[in-house]
Amino acid sequence: MSDKVRVLFVCLGNICRSPTAEGVFQQAVDAAGMQTLIEVDSCGTGSWHVGKAPDSRAIEAARRRGIDISHLRARQFQPNDLTQFDYILVMDRQNLADVKDLWHRDGGTEPRLFLEFANTSGSLEVPDPYFGGVQGFERVLDLIESASQGLIATIREKQA
Ligand code: 4NP
Repeated sequence: MSDKVRVLFVCLGNICRSPTAEGVFQQAVDAAGMQTLIEVDSCGTGSWHVGKAPDSRAIEAARRRGIDISHLRARQFQPNDLTQFDYILVMDRQNLADVKDLWHRDGGTEPRLFLEFANTSGSLEVPDPYFGGVQGFERVLDLIESASQGLIATIREKQA
């Protein structure tokens, strides 16, 4: 592993939730002045959208909050990601089960639900907004913004 703290966000398609997390968390890293310390990436457990830009609704929702994710391109989770990243943060329990299957086989960094870092009550899952309306994308952003702040605080504490 590099001396940087490497963070990987994982969802199903890598076109809605995890690229949103990558963009929001990268902005939080920049705002905290921690760019030289933290590297961010995202991927999906599925392969359907590999090479594609984020969903246009995710791009628009992020843009409304001043974050550009249009340059991101989907890739699929690979077994060696388990040894390349210090944090592997998944959006829902299905993602967790899928990545844990590989983790049980290969070891490496244990995947965790990203919302463990959020200061929100209720479910620890970021709901899949793909088949819903625009409101779902706003909710995704709210949850991810909260968890991003929590993750920044955690990494900062560990560095101190
Ligand atoms: P994501 O959303 O996992 O947040 O990127 C989805 C994107 C595509 C599909 C499902 C969820 N799909 O079924 O194609």
